[in-house]
Amino acid sequence: MPSWFNLNRAWTYEPLRQHPADQATRWGKQSKIKLGLGIVLSVGIVLLLARFTFHSESYNPLDNYQNINALPVTHVPSSEGGRRAVVSALYSDGFAIAVAVLGHSTTAANVSARLILPYLEGRISPKALCIVRSTGWEPQLVPFIPPPHDGQSIHARFRDQYTKLNIWTLDKMGIDTAVYLDADTLVRRNFDELFDSPFNFAAVPDVYGAGDPRGFSLTFNAGVLAYRPSSAVFDDMLQKLQTASYPLKQAEQAFLNLYFGGTAMRLPYIYNANLAIKQRSPILWERLVPEMRVIHYTTVKPFQEHMDAILSPEELEEVMDRGARREGGFFREEVGWWREAYERMMREHGDAIRRCY
Ligand SMILES: *[C@@H]1O[C@H](CO)[C@@H](O)[C@H](O)[C@H]1NC(C)=O
Repeated sequence: MPSWFNLNRAWTYEPLRQHPADQATRWGKQSKIKLGLGIVLSVGIVLLLARFTFHSESYNPLDNYQNINALPVTHVPSSEGGRRAVVSALYSDGFAIAVAVLGHSTTAANVSARLILPYLEGRISPKALCIVRSTGWEPQLVPFIPPPHDGQSIHARFRDQYTKLNIWTLDKMGIDTAVYLDADTLVRRNFDELFDSPFNFAAVPDVYGAGDPRGFSLTFNAGVLAYRPSSAVFDDMLQKLQTASYPLKQAEQAFLNLYFGGTAMRLPYIYNANLAIKQRSPILWERLVPEMRVIHYTTVKPFQEHMDAILSPEELEEVMDRGARREGGFFREEVGWWREAYERMMREHGDAIRRCY
């Protein structure tokens, strides 16, 4: 099949008309259809272009339901307890300070869990590892998981994101229940209740910023996940990654939306307070602030401009100042929260962190 056709398929959650068990027949028929398709190729191109240009229907993973996840929806917590982890990820040195602040903010909120930090070999400098260890993270070497279909259609900045799936293997480290937090989040309040959730998988619905017609979405954002590690689920995911049909551009987030689909417990926005909420509805944001557990710096990142460099404290000051002025100063207060967390971390762990440089 010509790759441009695959490309188009890969970008959207097209509703499947048949059960995946019928896929064999479906593909057999499609190869015959392909002959006909060749004849109307030029018409097809025009139609596809029109679809891209005037695309108004939106499909979500539930329209494209594929029976690929056999995980039960709930789980009765074991009586042992205590085998909890907060997990993040470090794929480039540029996020080391952010991850250190995230770890410190987690501890400062008295979240009772180990801090486990998967990182990629050959990407992370000893300096970066030293910085994140200072605030309690246990760095954990993980294998790179390449994007499926040779990385076709994937958004360049999401190439490393499938490596996130390794977090399901934490059962091998004795973890029963875990909360994953993206490196560009910050903990504002304790969220221990998430560890006691009876649901196997929970996440917060996604929100797209001003100007994006998707707005408050049915799909979830993969920046905060409350889940139960299971190597069996991990193996199952890797196997199905190659055959599942979902928008490849959005990488692991789109895959997880498909995989967990209708079985994902939807959490309140206070667990993944995406800055896009403030852009769309300042009054809703205001309502969330007093209860906010985790803020997600999606549109403005107060800590980073370059992907790979660990900024000096002086450079970081300038980056935070610029962050506070971005979007006409709309996120000044939220950037200020990150700055406070950073300063608190430096007061408590500054000596150890400076020794890393
Ligand atoms: C965390 O626990 C300490 C010691 O029990 C307490 O002093 C502090 O107020 C707690 N912090 C938060 C944010 O709950």
